[in-house]
Amino acid sequence: MEPKTIKKIGVLTSGGDSPGMNAAIRAVVRAGLYYDLEMYGIYRGYEGMIQNDIKKLESRHITHVLERGGTFLKSARSAEFRTPEGRQTAYNNLKSHGIDALVVIGGDGSLTGAHLFYKEYGVPAIGLPGTIDNDLSGTDSTIGFDTACNTAIEAIDKIRDTATSHDRLFFVEVMGRDAGFIAINAGIGSAAAAILIPEKKMPIEHLVDKLKIRTKAKKASNIVIVAEGGKSGGATEIANLVKKHLPYYDIKVTILGHLQRGGSPSSFDRLIASKLGVAAVEGLLQGKYDVMAGLINNKVVYTPIKKAIVDDKSVDEDDFRVAKILST
Ligand code: F6P
Repeated sequence: MEPKTIKKIGVLTSGGDSPGMNAAIRAVVRAGLYYDLEMYGIYRGYEGMIQNDIKKLESRHITHVLERGGTFLKSARSAEFRTPEGRQTAYNNLKSHGIDALVVIGGDGSLTGAHLFYKEYGVPAIGLPGTIDNDLSGTDSTIGFDTACNTAIEAIDKIRDTATSHDRLFFVEVMGRDAGFIAINAGIGSAAAAILIPEKKMPIEHLVDKLKIRTKAKKASNIVIVAEGGKSGGATEIANLVKKHLPYYDIKVTILGHLQRGGSPSSFDRLIASKLGVAAVEGLLQGKYDVMAGLINNKVVYTPIKKAIVDDKSVDEDDFRVAKILST
């Protein structure tokens, strides 16, 4: 497509925040200023676009943000943006600032919003994959996923200490409503006895048999990782089911929850956020619209948003095989 003239870019973060979002905003703003563009921060995601919470960003606004968790632009899940009236108001507000293009940092819901907006109003938009869930196609890793896995593993290591001291069985719930990427990585990285993810059903009898075998082998502690969106329920439900089969086990449940969304981004998340932030601005200037910038084999790839949000990225079967071998 012939590139439109772009002079003012708006950047926003939307949906669940993720470590590295600040690093991505910084890179987008720095790259925009480098190319002599005016940069605008849209606060609280699409909600702020509707409320006209939009401010010009200069270099001084983005100093010392790269290393900070969360997002200084704040984030929200906007119900109003899902309505045509909400999007009309948002468009009018963008026009009043003269904003000609958008960079949307978020997960599948946020990128869906950018796609819809482009289709309806023709506002050039590029998405950046900002979610701890890693459930977007068109990128090997989403911004925040690596940090979330590190946080989960650090917490599970600590749980392991107390589990071993008391010969206990722990069910640890990690985030991932529809995706088991954090669960499988954290599970392999923390030597879990079993990993339960939304994409795959594990009959409770299999899990019980596995735990019995491990007990016979005199494993001092057992940790089972459960993704929050698991088919048989979260960690509490699974623990209750297992308790019925193994009443003599001392069972505890820990839900890691939003802990996984916070914290200073890892070096890897800082790097991908920085590369993708520059790629977003350069992509817009080259006329790449309605796409998500991702990294595949360390190279920037622009994937149509419609393709990136399709739920076809699934946990690698080989990771399962590895987890199985290592947990017997
Ligand atoms: O999409 C990221 C995520 O952290 C999911 O893993 C989780 O299910 C969800 O957001 C929680 O959302 P909220 O913070 O709105 O409860």
